[in-house]
Amino acid sequence: LGKNGFMKIGIIGAGYVGLVTAACLAEFGFQVTCCDKQQARIDMLNQGKSPIFEPGLELLLNKHADKNLFFTSDIQKLIQHNDVLFIAVGTPSDPDTGAADLSAVFHVAAQISDHLNQDKVVVTKSTVPVGTTRRLKQHFTDALQGKNSPHNIHVVSNPEFLREGSAIEDFMRPDRVIIGTDSDYSKSIMDMIYRPLYLYETPIVWTDFESAELTKYASNAFLATKVAFINEIANLCEKTNGTIDDVAKGLGLDKRIGHKFLHPSPGYGGSCFPKDTLAIAHLATEKNAPLTIVDSVITSNDNRKKNLITRIQGFLGKTPYFDHSATALHGKKAALLGLSFKPNTDDMRESPALYVVPDLLAAGCIVSAFDPEAHETAQQVIEDHPKLSFENSITDCLKDADFLVILTEWNQFRALDLGEIKTMMNNPVICDYRNIFAPNMAKQHGFCMDYVGKPALFSTETAHIEMINKKNIDNGAKPVSAVDG
Ligand code: UDX
Ligand code: UDX
Repeated sequence: LGKNGFMKIGIIGAGYVGLVTAACLAEFGFQVTCCDKQQARIDMLNQGKSPIFEPGLELLLNKHADKNLFFTSDIQKLIQHNDVLFIAVGTPSDPDTGAADLSAVFHVAAQISDHLNQDKVVVTKSTVPVGTTRRLKQHFTDALQGKNSPHNIHVVSNPEFLREGSAIEDFMRPDRVIIGTDSDYSKSIMDMIYRPLYLYETPIVWTDFESAELTKYASNAFLATKVAFINEIANLCEKTNGTIDDVAKGLGLDKRIGHKFLHPSPGYGGSCFPKDTLAIAHLATEKNAPLTIVDSVITSNDNRKKNLITRIQGFLGKTPYFDHSATALHGKKAALLGLSFKPNTDDMRESPALYVVPDLLAAGCIVSAFDPEAHETAQQVIEDHPKLSFENSITDCLKDADFLVILTEWNQFRALDLGEIKTMMNNPVICDYRNIFAPNMAKQHGFCMDYVGKPALFSTETAHIEMINKKNIDNGAKPVSAVDG
């Protein structure tokens, strides 16, 4: 330990995980330095700005900046001046195989062994496949033996379970902490680091490296399975006139199932579920213990996002405002509310919008999008298009829109008044893929509304009856009257 037994912690990687870990460990009272190879990121942090949007993060960073929280791009100094090093660099999945790419983790490991000047505890915070922490240990043993180094490196696996949007809360009040160690020394250090959580009686699971690594992947795969499962049950509700809200509530009240992660959606996204399900499935196949359930979850969720455009087209065709032709969406203005993969983040990774925006453009739509935080990140990953615009307000986004698609359930969208929306749009048509608008309000304002897992609504206002009838007659069906359709 550093002088006076005061523990100094270095975090390598100033991404979501690294920054949240740094800010929260500083809040726990430790002296923390966070390092990133991107100088621009460090410059921003040194100017008191967070390079990512995460509620409460910037506040916490600024609270501790220059007191017990520092930023640097000098990894050598970081390694040499700290007792405990957390590795929080990205572990993206290989686009072809789905295997986690560990090159950044092992690059950092090589830097640690190169610059080692005293005993260290090295903690993997990044999500790494089962076996990686042991491989890291072997890497350090070989490297230090090769140099005849008198020092020791103790490795630890301490996977992170934070959710974007509530990451600070998740770190400060976790359901549990998982720590894989193989020495009393590293165990005592980790115990000291997480002591502030004893106040909340947070359970700590002390285990071996492999079980700790596996717990992280299994948790994410299980949660992704819950989401994919409820989404398929939502499909079934749509075909059978069931209502997913009631089904999910009934399911969730069974304590063995629990009510969380049973909200139907356009499909899960983010930096973790898609990547971690692929990685664990890949590993399982390699080890000849296939996870056929997880394989199906991956396919189910991918198809859900890919099929959103077909769903939108099918629904629009059933409203009085669009026809069934292949060119029905040509020149129509689509308003899109929500781009990030979930609310309270600017993260676009694997977001359903990455499918819907290009598919709407390909169908000939003019797309006008609004997201409270994700414009910049969206512009980085969605190709420029003359018919695509990112608007600065909901009003600009909705103006003269022929239909609206809701992809992310930001709170400010929930608060919108359907009466006002109707005055802004050309047609009262909404694809509400996060079920944020109450059906009775939609009915009251005469909206055609597509929901996930419950019956779609079709406008029954007298003014629209004529159009519906005309279509029905064209299709050989019976005319309707002014009752719920
Ligand atoms: C994290 C975890 O690392 C990943 O395993 C988990 O599954 C999801 O969250 P995240 O923090 O979101 O990843 O990654 P990212 O936002 O990509 O940040 C990683 C940071 O590490 C980047 O700022 C990158 O510049 C930095 N980095 C990467 C280094 O400083 N050095 C390197 O060698 C590689
Ligand atoms: C997840 C895990 O929850 C977290 O423990 C892990 O460390 C990282 O991965 P995150 O990706 O930030 O966190 O978000 P989360 O809230 O879990 O949502 C993931 C995706 O599932 C989002 O696209 C969300 O919209 C979707 N989802 C979630 C649903 O569609 N329905 C639900 O009921 C819950």
